[in-house]
Amino acid sequence: MDDLRQKYLAAISGAADEAALEALRVEAVGKKGEISLKMRELGKMTPEERQLAGPALNSLKDEINSALAAKKAALADLALDARLKDEWLDVTLPGRPGPAGTVHPVSQVTEEVTAIFADMGFRVAEGPQIESDWYNFDALNMAPEHPARQEHDTFYMAVPEGANRPPHVLRTHTSPVQIRALQGQGAPIRVIAPGRVYRSDYDQTHTPMFHQIEGLAIDRDISMANLKWCLEEFVAAFFGVEKAELRFRASHFPFTEPSAEVDLRCSWVDGQLKVGEGDDWMEILGSGMVHPHVLRAGGIDPDQWQGFAFGIGIDRLAMLKYGIPDLRAFFDSDLRWLRHYGFSALDVPTLHGGLSR
Ligand code: PHE
Repeated sequence: MDDLRQKYLAAISGAADEAALEALRVEAVGKKGEISLKMRELGKMTPEERQLAGPALNSLKDEINSALAAKKAALADLALDARLKDEWLDVTLPGRPGPAGTVHPVSQVTEEVTAIFADMGFRVAEGPQIESDWYNFDALNMAPEHPARQEHDTFYMAVPEGANRPPHVLRTHTSPVQIRALQGQGAPIRVIAPGRVYRSDYDQTHTPMFHQIEGLAIDRDISMANLKWCLEEFVAAFFGVEKAELRFRASHFPFTEPSAEVDLRCSWVDGQLKVGEGDDWMEILGSGMVHPHVLRAGGIDPDQWQGFAFGIGIDRLAMLKYGIPDLRAFFDSDLRWLRHYGFSALDVPTLHGGLSR
């Protein structure tokens, strides 16, 4: 028995890894191990022999089992030490920087508005920023001599020599996309068209390039009531209020009849805008029932189809919602401004996930 003890204790202490240790365990105290077999022989012994050999074998077995356990723990420690040495990490290194850029408030608000109207079944439509005179004005019921043309401080493109046509313009509004969408898709239709527009104007609330989002919904029996509901839903969702109170003020646009400018009930408390309460009204958009001439220009029969259109200033919405005082700074590309007012690229606005931080 002493020989067995010597043999196994030496082998265990010399085992190189867990696999070798396991092989030793099987060899010594496994079901058919040397010591287990010896224990089976106890039955053949005389009671006197058994009284001596039994406890001795038992304690040998215990001894070997605990040697195995101790060696196993020691091997695990060694493995851990080796890993720690190998896989070291310099915790004094600076953390991983987040994405360097931010999403511009105009892009963020465009996404927000698009998400809200998409939920109401509006698809996104697009048109060119350099637009023909016809799409920007004529098709929208503004003939060349129409006085409303003068209200848009239009940028005109140069006309190539010999070209016998009026100059193209930098579109002064997103309304020409109404015509393009109608021509391309026909009725019924529900689209929104976000994009850049241009007017020669520059002060704290005007920049020569700014952004609008056009809405157009045409069907058999769409009315002002549908317009009102859509806009109320939109404003409540956009500003995150239970109910937004809107005021429809009779107005005039050549391309809608009747036309309404829409004001939002609000108040200013310590320079902070509160939507849905207070005694102030803030103009946020122009709208109306699409004029029959416009439907016709889009290739739609006004005796069959009718609907509404609206145009919202995106930059204005961004200023209101995020408390940004000066519009001009939007387009200065000042990194400090962008870092301050920008949004995380991972913070994509959705109706279910939340529209903003
Ligand atoms: N195009 C108008 C503007 O730029 C807004 C508008 C769009 C009004 C659609 C009525 C309908 O002021």
